[in-house]
Amino acid sequence: MHEKINMINFDIILKGGELVLPNKKIDKLDVGISNCLIKEIGDLSKMSADKIIDITGLTVMPGAIDTQVHFREPGLTHKEDIKHGSKGAVAGGVTTFFEMPNTIPPTTCLRELEKKFQIAEKNSFCNYSFFAGASKENIHEIRELESFTGCCGVKIFMGSSTGDLLVEDDKSVLEILKVSKKMIAVHSEDEYRLRLRAKEFSENKLSVFNHPEIRDTTSAVSCTKRLLKLAHEAKKKIHILHLSTKDEVELLANNKDIATCEVTPQHLFFNSPECYKKLGTFSQMNPPIRDKTHNLGLWDGLSQKVIDVIGSDHAPHTIQEKNKSYPDSPSGMTGVQTLLPIMLNFVNKGKLSIFDLVRLVCENPCKIYSIMNKGKIEIDYDADLTVIDLNKEFTITNDWIHSKSKWTPYDGLKIKGIPVFTIVNGKLVMEENQIIDEVAGKKVLFKD
Ligand code: DOR
Repeated sequence: MHEKINMINFDIILKGGELVLPNKKIDKLDVGISNCLIKEIGDLSKMSADKIIDITGLTVMPGAIDTQVHFREPGLTHKEDIKHGSKGAVAGGVTTFFEMPNTIPPTTCLRELEKKFQIAEKNSFCNYSFFAGASKENIHEIRELESFTGCCGVKIFMGSSTGDLLVEDDKSVLEILKVSKKMIAVHSEDEYRLRLRAKEFSENKLSVFNHPEIRDTTSAVSCTKRLLKLAHEAKKKIHILHLSTKDEVELLANNKDIATCEVTPQHLFFNSPECYKKLGTFSQMNPPIRDKTHNLGLWDGLSQKVIDVIGSDHAPHTIQEKNKSYPDSPSGMTGVQTLLPIMLNFVNKGKLSIFDLVRLVCENPCKIYSIMNKGKIEIDYDADLTVIDLNKEFTITNDWIHSKSKWTPYDGLKIKGIPVFTIVNGKLVMEENQIIDEVAGKKVLFKD
């Protein structure tokens, strides 16, 4: 232990937990937190602190980073806002979120981007960053937008989803790839194919079972093929969001030099047609949940490390809106609060290890987006920590969800493994399911 440390009275000492450390090590050690940072790791039994939390028998991982949420503010705050969204985040052990630009108005100019940071500064329970939205009209502003302190990168919707943001053509996408210097995250569904399929199905009486047929695998695969070609041409790395097909896993396995990618817990958990039978439009999202062969392909992608990140794509719509009949029902479901519980349940089932999970929701987000000072339990890193009880059984219910759209596709699901404490910048913001009223979030900083 450092000599100087004997002088310190820590803000918090986490005592006796099993720490998930870098280099695939788990060690039973104490953590001393001071001034928002991890200041000591070791035997701190002789040290003092304002608060000592005995976490014997619990596991500590770096705070989880959810790199894809839609918190809907401004413009759609009847569905969600930054306050409720970030409350759900910390309730589920997430300490940092990256938020998407398809709000109203969309985040396509500096004024709108700045506005989101101002709202978050006053309201966010956890750390925050916002994407700049790319449109065909703002290509010349992309550099300025993405350079705004705290902006995580640029989002391109190549297929239309909730909202009007859309850049469907190769020429514009290539231009954006060439001007941008930060990470570009892409919703990869081919708009031309989506339009064609919608037309082909327009005479039919539709139900949600048609959703994965209309937005078919070809829509996703052909877009990802085009995108990879453009990324190579521009020599620019890209990040493909919410992968839904086994074919894209195969494609991406051969393009690791230029592309990283994400999967959502819901694409790992649900299968078609069962999910549509059980949940109807409440399991409708873009890209759609597909059949078992694709689900298995995604799991293969995870185990072979083709998939780099797990993001929730938390995309709330109210129960009333989701109850509309297809295709008037909107796409998307809540997810930020259930991301870790669902994945910890998979850890307990032996589908991935706790080290895999830490790589997917802590280490890789930091690498891909060049996040500063997060993602590891290490001295002088930000004290963002998620304490989990791998043995605790819990039933997920709609009631438990903090989102303004108070529902989850996992309502009634019994799981094993759940976050029990969430620490954001050295402040305890969630303790045993109680949210401590603490707007502890700060803007995320990036290495340029
Ligand atoms: O299902 C989805 N809903 N997919 C998206 O990419 C957007 C999201 C939303 O914002 O509702």
